[in-house]
Amino acid sequence: MKHIDNIPSTPGKVKMEKSPYNRLRIHFSLAKLTFWSFVFLGLIFVFFYRSPASTSPVSSDLSRRSLRTNSYGGPDWEKRIKASAKVRSRNGISVLVTGAAGFVGTHVSVALKRRGDGVLGLDNFNEYYDPSLKRARQALLERTGVHVVEGDINDATLLKKLFDIVPFSHVMHLAAQAGVRYAMENPGSYVHSNIAGLVNVLEICKSVNPQPAIVWASSSSVYGLNTKVPFSEKDRTDQPASLYAATKKAGEEIAHTYNHIYGLSLTGLRFFTVYGPWGRPDMAYFFFTRDILKGKSIPIFEAANHGTVARDFTYIDDIVKGCLAALDTAEKSTGSGGKKKDPAQLRVFNLGNTSPVPVSDLVSILERLLKVKAKRLVMKLPRNGDVQFTHANISSAHKELGYKPTTDLQTGLKKFVRWYLNYYGNGKKSAQ
Ligand SMILES: NC(=O)c1ccc[n+]([C@@H]2O[C@H](COP(=O)([O-])OP(=O)(O)OC[C@H]3O[C@@H](n4cnc5c(N)ncnc54)[C@H](O)[C@@H]3O)[C@@H](O)[C@H]2O)c1
Ligand SMILES: *[C@@H]1O[C@H](CO)[C@@H](O)[C@H](O)[C@H]1NC(C)=O
Repeated sequence: MKHIDNIPSTPGKVKMEKSPYNRLRIHFSLAKLTFWSFVFLGLIFVFFYRSPASTSPVSSDLSRRSLRTNSYGGPDWEKRIKASAKVRSRNGISVLVTGAAGFVGTHVSVALKRRGDGVLGLDNFNEYYDPSLKRARQALLERTGVHVVEGDINDATLLKKLFDIVPFSHVMHLAAQAGVRYAMENPGSYVHSNIAGLVNVLEICKSVNPQPAIVWASSSSVYGLNTKVPFSEKDRTDQPASLYAATKKAGEEIAHTYNHIYGLSLTGLRFFTVYGPWGRPDMAYFFFTRDILKGKSIPIFEAANHGTVARDFTYIDDIVKGCLAALDTAEKSTGSGGKKKDPAQLRVFNLGNTSPVPVSDLVSILERLLKVKAKRLVMKLPRNGDVQFTHANISSAHKELGYKPTTDLQTGLKKFVRWYLNYYGNGKKSAQ
């Protein structure tokens, strides 16, 4: 078989001689070429199939992909959706919750279901943080009677189909790419979910009949570099400090447009640093807990001239009450057939705790609760998205929603730590 070893590595150099061995050679190289083409195509396929929806900046491509890879439909599928969205209490509402496998989405869905509302979840289970936590929340939801459809908010066909099956009276739109620093790593995921995704959700909402009322999550980060505290809804929001903040600000302007043109009832909620059980592993209180337990040092930021970095930490149960109150006070959308009939409701509320706590105090509370001393590494606050201070003025939410937070950081963290130790056990699972 010596002749086979003689095949030159550069294909262009194969000489077409009329020796009996030549056909074999050409045959062989063709077979080789075909084989490697298949391997190559296979790799491309695997790459596209497996890469999470959040890693490519091209959003139209992504929505097409999710159309291809998600299978849905069939009588069983529709039955599950109808059962989940069935209203069980008098005057109950039917709500489509996007981002239902997320931190806030899970808590809001459970609360709605428990009081007898119809709830259907939608989530793409992306890998921005450990998807096994999202799956665990999903299991909790399914036990409560909330079904979560796996799909992307950019998938118009899927959303239309869901509205065909259930004429939702409300949409609680929480799906988004969260996190401030990750925007420098993967800016496209913010455009995909927070802008393209939001527009797609609103496009469907304006076109269905009856149009639902929409409550959606904006963020305290829209206050950006503002220094006047507490932050009030009337303050300027035109100096965002991160792409995340900019996409939330853009969302508020997009909401204004859909309210103005199509008569959609829209309420934006500016959450202030939400924490609690089933929380997000990318947030400081969560990974501080993990790293303190591991004996790993934790970075504590301070501003220029040893300035304090503080957050208006808001406990999840208080946020949930605010979300439900926003849904309950939302007026109906006024449009139909893609046209506005009358002016519709347009609101924005701060949902915070009104008592900012320095991050170093957060660490002290965690040390006490975990009974472990933290290795503190004091560092200068980098200028990559985080702001020095957040503090909500909630008088508007108090007046219009009856919103009144009741959990202080100490009490809330105690509940978080209890959950954390129980969930991650004695090092059986490890938080990533
Ligand atoms: N937690 C906070 O402190 C906080 C503060 C301000 C604003 N918010 C906003 O509140 C909302 C909920 O936040 P959270 O803390 O629960 O975050 P989260 O990341 O836990 O939840 C968001 C969920 O949406 C899903 N999702 C993301 N993009 C999607 C897409 N394109 N299609 C379908 N599903 C998608 C994710 O898989 C995730 O489960 C977000 O809009 C966030 O920006 C949160
Ligand atoms: C909070 O906002 C309200 C308007 O919603 C305003 O009247 C009030 O003065 C603000 N409070 C503070 C302390 O800034």
